Amino acid sequence: MQVKNDLLLRTVKGEKVERPPVWLMRQAGRILPQYRAVRNSLNGFIALVKNPELVAEVTIQPVDELGVDAAILFSDILVIPEAMGLPYELVEKKGPYFPKVIQSKSDIEALTTEVNPQLDYVFGGIDKTLEKLEGRVPLIGFSGAPFTLFCYMIEGSGSKTFSKAKRFLYQEPELSHQLLQKITTAIIQYTNEKVNRGVHLIQIFDSWAGVLDEQSYREFCIPYLREIVQSLKPRVPVTLFSKGAWFALHDIQRVGADVIGLDWNISPSQARDLLGREQVVQGNLDPCMLYADDQMIENATIKMIQEFGRNHIVNLGHGVYPDTPLDKVKTFVNCVKSFRY
Ligand code: CP3
Repeated sequence: MQVKNDLLLRTVKGEKVERPPVWLMRQAGRILPQYRAVRNSLNGFIALVKNPELVAEVTIQPVDELGVDAAILFSDILVIPEAMGLPYELVEKKGPYFPKVIQSKSDIEALTTEVNPQLDYVFGGIDKTLEKLEGRVPLIGFSGAPFTLFCYMIEGSGSKTFSKAKRFLYQEPELSHQLLQKITTAIIQYTNEKVNRGVHLIQIFDSWAGVLDEQSYREFCIPYLREIVQSLKPRVPVTLFSKGAWFALHDIQRVGADVIGLDWNISPSQARDLLGREQVVQGNLDPCMLYADDQMIENATIKMIQEFGRNHIVNLGHGVYPDTPLDKVKTFVNCVKSFRY
């Protein structure tokens, strides 16, 4: 179906657009009272993720409420480890928890890469969302990156340092590569089926890239990211968001994704010096800026847009925090929507 608001897709192609498109990572979530109502009617987050009807509903909520230029499919990156054989739980106020983790070669061998049969609920959610969205805005599909999923599969939960996952990386580099390759194979199967179902863009979240150093990033992330991007790129545009990996931006650019996601640890002008003005980038306002007053939010947003120049998709530098007041999110979105280059 033809997309009515195709600002995001035109920007991705490098076209000269009237203003930058805007959406927010984690826009479908707890900032919206409508989301909290749906969520509270169910027994937990995973029940919501596995219900295609409700997935469509909460995916579209921010399009209705905020008027953003894209929808992102409501799901989680942890559906892949589960489909490979490691179920997760979401502990209220604490985050993800894996009762079983990867510790040995036999644990890795026991994982399957045939994930799509277990992920039918995600693909059903795409069908339902596209049906209800009626082509208003593009639909973004996503996956965690191999290293970020590796972190959860070894560590078993969130962490500030992911030192257990990194210990495995440095003590067992060969097994680590074996696991990263299996995760990559699963991601390729999963994301390509998302494309078959009709998503307009795929974003890869490498949320914990920033715990690595440059050399490890080159060894344990780049080759797998390249494999994923190459498998998708002929079919659909790809955004690569490696949070905290500003030290590897040149390598990331050479992976060849259409869009590079940026967090707020790099300034727009530094990013432009490294990547050039033609590279389409996405980001990067500090999510905490949305706690400021309206005037300050608008000033920071316009400064960012002007500093990046064209070939820019406005977003925060990471997911919007759940306690962000909804009217501040609207201030941010409306400020971008009334801007003209
Ligand atoms: O962006 C969107 O609006 C789409 C939905 C989305 C969710 N998770 C919903 C969610 C996306 C794109 C994700 C990706 C995700 N999940 C990432 C990568 C992006 C990032 O933030 O770096 C990561 C690392 C995860 C893992 C994860 N899932 C964590 C750490 C948590 C708990 C933290 C929290 O916010 O509570 C989740 C749960 C989760 N995923 C929630 C939502 C809306 C909160 C669950 C709830 O409703 O209680």
